[in-house]
Amino acid sequence: LIHLLSTEGLSKDILTHILDTAANFVSVNDREVKKVPLLRGKSVFNLFFENSTRTRTTFEIAAKRLSADVFNLDIARSSASKGESLLDTIANLSAMAADIFVVRHSESGAPYLVAQHVAPHVHVVNAGDGRHAHPTQGLLDMYTIRHYKKDFSNLTVAIVGDVLHSRVARSDIHALTTLGAAEVRVVGPRTLVPTDLAQMGVRVFHTLEEGIRDADVIIMLRLQNERMNGALLPSSQEYFKAFGLTAEKLRLAKPDAIVMHPGPINRGVEIDSEVVDGPQAVILSQVSFGIAVRMAVMSIVAGNEA
Ligand code: CP
Repeated sequence: LIHLLSTEGLSKDILTHILDTAANFVSVNDREVKKVPLLRGKSVFNLFFENSTRTRTTFEIAAKRLSADVFNLDIARSSASKGESLLDTIANLSAMAADIFVVRHSESGAPYLVAQHVAPHVHVVNAGDGRHAHPTQGLLDMYTIRHYKKDFSNLTVAIVGDVLHSRVARSDIHALTTLGAAEVRVVGPRTLVPTDLAQMGVRVFHTLEEGIRDADVIIMLRLQNERMNGALLPSSQEYFKAFGLTAEKLRLAKPDAIVMHPGPINRGVEIDSEVVDGPQAVILSQVSFGIAVRMAVMSIVAGNEA
């Protein structure tokens, strides 16, 4: 694996290897990650052309725990605002001896373009491109599921909400089907669920109650208004009434079901506070596991594994 651009096309062996490598970075209390010298002398450039709280910060922490030097380009203050193209930006940062580019961009495919133009020794990790893919989120979601449920083969996983605009949903679906989840469901209003998902072996539901019934894992998604281009949408209240996950509705899932969310959450829109702060939510564990998973990805693409 030279670049990580998508979970699509990654074999079960590679996905499992990434999860196992991440597990090696996590200490006995399941959270703490020790500093290791695997990327000492390497430079990681975080290029976030779209906003981020979790992904940017955990990539920075992960790179530091691998002993790399980390540079966060402040895009708003960069010369991108003066018309410098993405590829010229990359060429100039490459001249500063970058080894890994972590790229988030609102345009689907931007990290692929970067990967086609970097030198052979430089690696690109997709940190979310448009509505296309968010592979490290998909991988940390798989890590979280494996942590709580041990094995994918008996699991029913429901992905609920604005699937149409969700790069997380796509990355999760590819990883879950490859890892052998028993049933992958998508649940949402007809306007927010793509029609091609049935071809991927995914079951489609248009009511929350049916979609989460007897599920082992529920992955909630927010309404991604920034990618809707002014489409006519239900109000937040209408949406919450139909697809918001409340404690009462959660009782339709298995009693030990876990509730996940990639964040940012919108309380009272797609999920009720009682669920976010309740015992079945593992949302903050996902964030913590993201550090080890991103360490695993960067050390594997750079060829400097433990
Ligand atoms: N899950 C996720 O990508 O969050 P951020 O947008 O805050 O990075």
